[in-house]
Amino acid sequence: MTKLAFVLGSNWLLSIAELLVYIQDRGFDGTLVDHSRNAAIVDIKQRLDSDQIVDMQSSLGGCYKVGKVIWEHEIDLPLKAYPAKKVASKEDLEEIRKIPWLKIVWPRVKGKKIKFGVSTYPIFDGRFPINFRRYTRGMDDQVKKLLMKNGAKRADYFAYDEPDRRIEGRLNIALWPKTIAKNSLLTPPNAEILAIFSEEKLYIARTRIVYDSMLQQYRDESRPFVSAEISTSPKICRTLLTLAGARPGDTVLDPFCGTGTLLMEAAMLGMKCIGVDIDGDQVQGARSNLKWLAKDMGEKLDYDIVKGDSRELTSVVKKQVDAVAFEPILGPIYKKPPLRDEAEKTIKELTTLYRQVLTEISSILRPDGRVAMTIPVINTEGEPVSVKFRDLTRGTGLALYRMLPGDSIKSRKNIDPRLRIRPSRELIPERKRGQVVQRALIVLEK
Ligand SMILES: C[S@@+](CC[C@H](N)C(=O)[O-])C[C@H]1O[C@@H](n2cnc3c(N)ncnc32)[C@H](O)[C@@H]1O
Repeated sequence: MTKLAFVLGSNWLLSIAELLVYIQDRGFDGTLVDHSRNAAIVDIKQRLDSDQIVDMQSSLGGCYKVGKVIWEHEIDLPLKAYPAKKVASKEDLEEIRKIPWLKIVWPRVKGKKIKFGVSTYPIFDGRFPINFRRYTRGMDDQVKKLLMKNGAKRADYFAYDEPDRRIEGRLNIALWPKTIAKNSLLTPPNAEILAIFSEEKLYIARTRIVYDSMLQQYRDESRPFVSAEISTSPKICRTLLTLAGARPGDTVLDPFCGTGTLLMEAAMLGMKCIGVDIDGDQVQGARSNLKWLAKDMGEKLDYDIVKGDSRELTSVVKKQVDAVAFEPILGPIYKKPPLRDEAEKTIKELTTLYRQVLTEISSILRPDGRVAMTIPVINTEGEPVSVKFRDLTRGTGLALYRMLPGDSIKSRKNIDPRLRIRPSRELIPERKRGQVVQRALIVLEK
């Protein structure tokens, strides 16, 4: 049995869906036993080796860090020791400062120089009756003190004290992947400790792998062809690939490939890829991106990018594909919310286009294959308007695939309503701040 802690992307529900789909597809017997806005705790019946954990993190678009859970405290302990409002009693503080997990992370410390950091993930970003900042600093100081007391030559911790400028009101008490990589915090005797809070428990985990943000940034910025207006984020591309069930060695199709972001992600994961786009400039651009990637990786990549109309996909793609993942055109770029009638007209036209493409996809998709795509949600002056699921799939030969399998979700039933997971949901929203056209992800199967 392995208990893993996953630090989730900003869309926690989508990250959990992706994680559960991945676990199920790879044949792991896994259950989500607890979660917060920032992290998921998963029990996996099998023992996982380091390679499997690394594979997991690098395949998932919505997972920043994976750690092995090494200790669990009831939430009462930190609630009493680090209350947000009052001052703790000496006894309560002493209890939490015993750090029973120290020996698991550092069985031998004598004469060693140790660098470490405690990264705290609160249940929400908002208010909670624990002072998380004080807890984090308290742990940093206490771990350092105990390591020195046990004979370490040096013990230095890394901590952030600056406010997170990206999200107002967010506590900045977790280390960035960049800092972890730069200071080799994952190489023993160094360590990053994850302190993950849920409503019931405080989980302590030791980080095994973090998202390679420097490599991702480099690839994103150095590729020769970018088109900010249409490009999909590499992370969402990875999530779409996981949801579509694509695995290394599979042939993946993106029928609206644009600049080729999804194809690049697929190629990096060892998949063969086929891209189609109606616009010749995009096709050229996507080809140059894949060529650049192959050179950068020093590997021969298997890709084929063709110009064509995906409404007539079967006339351009003549072979069977294992998985289909894409972001189609999402309609006009509205500067301000349109009137409801206008949005409905756009959605109607797009639904027709999507349905034509899905019908074509269905005839080249492997019998048990899946399709993962985004659809637009247009904010109007009234209610948002989006594609109706039944209109989208009617007559296509594809049916809804539920991304949140109820039998692998065992998080508490009386969990805070903001964290409730409804397994019957058909789609998962993916919001982009300040945009009129939002998106949702949907998965279909044959
Ligand atoms: C949202 S963009 C895709 C962005 C892409 N994922 C990327 O990261 O660059 C949609 C693309 O679909 C293409 N497109 C529009 N209609 C099409 C059709 N009928 N068949 C194929 N491609 C189409 C557009 O040229 C555009 O490049």
